[in-house]
Amino acid sequence: MYAGDLLLKNVPRIRELATQQAATITLGQLMRNTSSDPQSLLKQAQWLHKALPIRFARRLNDFLQLPYIVVQNRQFHAVMDTYLETLDAVASFPKLRTFKDESAFHDVMVEQLQRHAEVVPLISEGYWEVRQMYPHIRLDDFLDNLFTTRISHRILLENYVNAHNSHSGGNTGIVKRDLSPHKMLKAHSESLIKLTRSVYGCSPQVEFRGNLACTLDYIPRHLTFVVQEVLKNALRATVERHLPPHTEPWMVTLPDVIIELQKGDYYVIIKISDQGGGMPKKMQNEVWQYGWTTAEEEEDITLDPSTWPGSKTNAAKRKKELCGYGFGLPLTRLFAQYFGGEVFMQAIPGHGTDMYLLLNHLKEGAPSTEMVDPSTALAETENTSHSIENAP
Ligand SMILES: Nc1ncnc2c1ncn2[C@@H]1O[C@H](COP(=O)(O)OP(=O)(O)OP(=O)(O)O)[C@@H](O)[C@H]1O
Ligand SMILES: [Mg+2]
Repeated sequence: MYAGDLLLKNVPRIRELATQQAATITLGQLMRNTSSDPQSLLKQAQWLHKALPIRFARRLNDFLQLPYIVVQNRQFHAVMDTYLETLDAVASFPKLRTFKDESAFHDVMVEQLQRHAEVVPLISEGYWEVRQMYPHIRLDDFLDNLFTTRISHRILLENYVNAHNSHSGGNTGIVKRDLSPHKMLKAHSESLIKLTRSVYGCSPQVEFRGNLACTLDYIPRHLTFVVQEVLKNALRATVERHLPPHTEPWMVTLPDVIIELQKGDYYVIIKISDQGGGMPKKMQNEVWQYGWTTAEEEEDITLDPSTWPGSKTNAAKRKKELCGYGFGLPLTRLFAQYFGGEVFMQAIPGHGTDMYLLLNHLKEGAPSTEMVDPSTALAETENTSHSIENAP
């Protein structure tokens, strides 16, 4: 059946499910209730079996309210199909009674998680295509909601899948204790320096300062995402400011990007500073919008094939990994704020940019894990009252 027909056929089911009350759970409750013994896994699976269809139906319902031109876009459509497929896979799964049922449910969840990995690149590309034709279309609220709820359902799914695969008591589930931001940032900066070099022929070095021994209880994937996005921007800005067009990359000396780590009472603070020229005041507000980027305009200047090894197409592909659709900063802010953290930017035009990432410790009992608030809990924002009675 054509995917569009399948969606139409499911509209009544989507509408019906979307109006149901979604069970809400805080991260603290999730951490307390996560364990890898079979009985607990069965309970977690039963909870997801009930909660996920409502959450996915709500997202599909939001998609259905979008302008026709957006819904018809190939990439947006692919994402809707993925949501519909997950809704169907979970809703049509029979009632879970036994450990064997739970094991089969786990396999379905693993498969669905993989399918959802492409959602961000698809939406970024689709949004770019739509706005090429209809620049007045702005979907910032829709995208904030889509990506915030995506953070929640991925946490729920990954937490369950991790618990299933975990044999250790201490680190069951999605939150990892005593992560070393220094170790993590060092590994990421090395690979991003390589990427920058492969695009431009040169890259700044990254220097670490401050409390390098500090640790953080956090979700590793979230930490990786935010630091990578900010670091990619800093590396790109530094090269593009200090490497004049048509100059041999080995002829220039680039200022380092500085990463400073500090541990406060509430947050681990990661400050990433570059001398990439900063940005004018007006732009400092605009960069937080989805799809706002300077990547395209500069492509012709920066992608001179004589300065890059490999073909122009390869260089363009690598450049897309470094800067693409203007989704890095808005998503970084969503991830940082999700558990009550923050991201601040201090950009000095004509000099450089300091980005501050403030990340909360995700400890049981702390406000960052116990609050039932759209920005800090695994809540469904549309619920008028939050019921936690059904928590696993
Ligand atoms: N450190 C920085 N120095 C100067 N300009 C920056 C810096 N960080 C971001 N910008 C500007 O903000 C724009 C938006 O950044 P953002 O990370 O959201 O998107 P992008 O890097 O263009 O693409 P994507 O992150 O989706 O790959 C960038 O294109 C760039 O013009
Ligand atoms: Mg970026």
